[in-house]
Amino acid sequence: MKRETFNSKLGVLAAAAGSAIGLGNIWRFPYITGQNGGAAFILVYIICIALIGVVMMMSELALGRKTNSNPIGAFKKLNPKGKWHYTGILAVLTSFIILSFYLMIAGWVFSYFISSLTGQLLHIAPENLSAHFETISSSTFNVLFWNFIVIVVTSYIVISGVQKGIEKYSKILMPILLFTLIALMFRSVTLEGAKDGLDFLFKPDFSKLTTQAILEALGHAFYSLSLGMGIIITYGSYIDKGEELKSLSFQVILADTVIAIMAGIVIFPAVFAYGFEPAAGPALIFITLPAVFQSMPFGGIFETLFFLLVGIAAITSTISLLEVSVSALTEEFDLGRKKAILIISFALFLLSMPSSLSFSSWSGVKIFGLSIFELLDFIASYIFLPIGGILTCIFISWIWGTKNAFNEICGETVNASKSYSIYNFLIKYIAPLAIFIILLYSTGIIKF
Ligand code: PFF
Repeated sequence: MKRETFNSKLGVLAAAAGSAIGLGNIWRFPYITGQNGGAAFILVYIICIALIGVVMMMSELALGRKTNSNPIGAFKKLNPKGKWHYTGILAVLTSFIILSFYLMIAGWVFSYFISSLTGQLLHIAPENLSAHFETISSSTFNVLFWNFIVIVVTSYIVISGVQKGIEKYSKILMPILLFTLIALMFRSVTLEGAKDGLDFLFKPDFSKLTTQAILEALGHAFYSLSLGMGIIITYGSYIDKGEELKSLSFQVILADTVIAIMAGIVIFPAVFAYGFEPAAGPALIFITLPAVFQSMPFGGIFETLFFLLVGIAAITSTISLLEVSVSALTEEFDLGRKKAILIISFALFLLSMPSSLSFSSWSGVKIFGLSIFELLDFIASYIFLPIGGILTCIFISWIWGTKNAFNEICGETVNASKSYSIYNFLIKYIAPLAIFIILLYSTGIIKF
């Protein structure tokens, strides 16, 4: 069977940037930036992506394109007799687990989008917003209903294939995301008192730049660029041979970073202008921001646009997470696309249940002191993800060979070029070492 490819350069960029730009950019990046020294943190973040993000992104794209395979097949093709395909299996498993709870958060966003659209959210008294969020995230019916809707929307896009599904919808949704973000940004910075928010986000405070903050930047770079879990390998496998992977990687990374910073410019000036405290995690977008929008003239419109924006960011990421399992199942088990999607969607719905219920009826269930959601997040994001990243670096450096990888990236033979030496050094030593330190730190083996 002939494998599909992306149809245009713009389509590849929209799909890859769509995967990278997600919930991580809109609610996580702005907050950790504000907390960890503003512009100083952004600077460290940029150094992390320059040292690790760029080479990892290029290498994963190259690995996919060279082999024209899903993550499991990619390792198998380049190392037919070895056991490296387990790295691919780990990547597929990681993306599957992450998707099972990422879709739950996307479901909360969908539900907030609908209640902003109907105006209901605007009429909840600010002091009741926290209770409202509790209800949304802990009502079993509500949560399972929205999980189901997110799975259906994601599957609907993915089932239509690479060109008619992923590429087509990314090309429609990403411009909408960008224009919505620009409109919201304009609204936010023109509010009276916006400056305090911009200060919170940008004022460089080098005293807050602890080792912990640096590791946070590193970990976030990985998460935000969708690295280490087979997504970029899979998308790379749909890219035509003529495409230049180096510039594509730079463009995706630039888009991801700029959008994350823009999201911060939307959120904090508005939060500060109306005298709210910036909160962490879900509380920021589900509790603080609805209160902010209530204070704003025409807040209902901006609120609806905001949740539309977050919903789009989430969906273009869930489709990439789903495509990893779909490509693996269709190619490794010779299943039809539709059948594979049905099986995976059903399994996803089942796996999403325990995470979702850990906010309500199963909140008492604790394993190693963690709720089921926290445990799955810990295993996938803090253990599997970095291990997958390190193994991928080792595979590229010593099994496939950096020269071969570099040839695939640049389409030219390596002639002791300077950029090859830098690439070789970063992917062989710096990237695996840095990811190893993140692994030790995030599992609590080392503390700072
Ligand atoms: N990179 C996207 C984000 O930042 O939200 C999507 C994503 C992919 C998140 C993979 C997390 C993840 F592990």
